[in-house]
Amino acid sequence: GDVAVLVPAAGAGVRLGAGAPKALRPLAGAPLLVHAVRRVALAPSVRCVVVAAPPAEVDAVRALLAPVAPVTVVAGGAERQQSVAAALAAVPAGIPIVLVHDAARALTPPALVEAVAAAVRGGADAVIPVLPVIDTIKEVDAAGTVLGTVDRAALRAVQTPQGFRRTVLAAAHAAATDPLTDDAGLVEKAGGAVLCVPGSELALKITRPLDLLIAEALLAAEGG
Ligand code: CTP
Ligand code: MG
Repeated sequence: GDVAVLVPAAGAGVRLGAGAPKALRPLAGAPLLVHAVRRVALAPSVRCVVVAAPPAEVDAVRALLAPVAPVTVVAGGAERQQSVAAALAAVPAGIPIVLVHDAARALTPPALVEAVAAAVRGGADAVIPVLPVIDTIKEVDAAGTVLGTVDRAALRAVQTPQGFRRTVLAAAHAAATDPLTDDAGLVEKAGGAVLCVPGSELALKITRPLDLLIAEALLAAEGG
């Protein structure tokens, strides 16, 4: 394998509602993070997985993941971007491709991990999995008055894993000022090119309670 996968998992999960940090919430009997890491580790290109855990849960996460896959666990930060940076700093030398993958996208298929890695291996500096936007999108002002309708055909909803030549991701993080919600955005800001590949419905981000129900139904449909 020539790929390291960073798994930011240090978020609180505010939108999911009260309870444990989101990555440790159960889905069909196992924490979201276990589902996510198990699938990532099944991708043949993956040599190394680094998880950024909630600082208070580093030891617990290490114990939780030890039977799942060989992983390195580091403490995450207050913003997702800081969690990614902490994980990136723990990637061993000699691995040329780095993917960044949300623990919250717990059902992402190994084939999507492979597809993103392959696109980077094929020469792209930065690669994102995307889906078409389904809803009509309006731009509005603070009072809720519609300013206009955005051309949906030119829009994409962005998933993870996002893939990078390691040197490109490291440079983008080093140059980062304001925190962004995705890593490809840092590359864009630095003037780099970002390539889209087809995403997967299974890579949905578990964000609100409804998403947990959908994920449970998806797991049941695939037989556990
Ligand atoms: N994340 C992280 N460190 C943070 C914030 C988020 O590692 N300081 C991770 C989350 O654990 C998650 C991924 O980034 O796997 C995507 O973030 P999101 O879905 O927003 O998760 P949370 O921030 O936990 O959820 P919320 O925004 O509802 O609190
Ligand atoms: Mg968040």
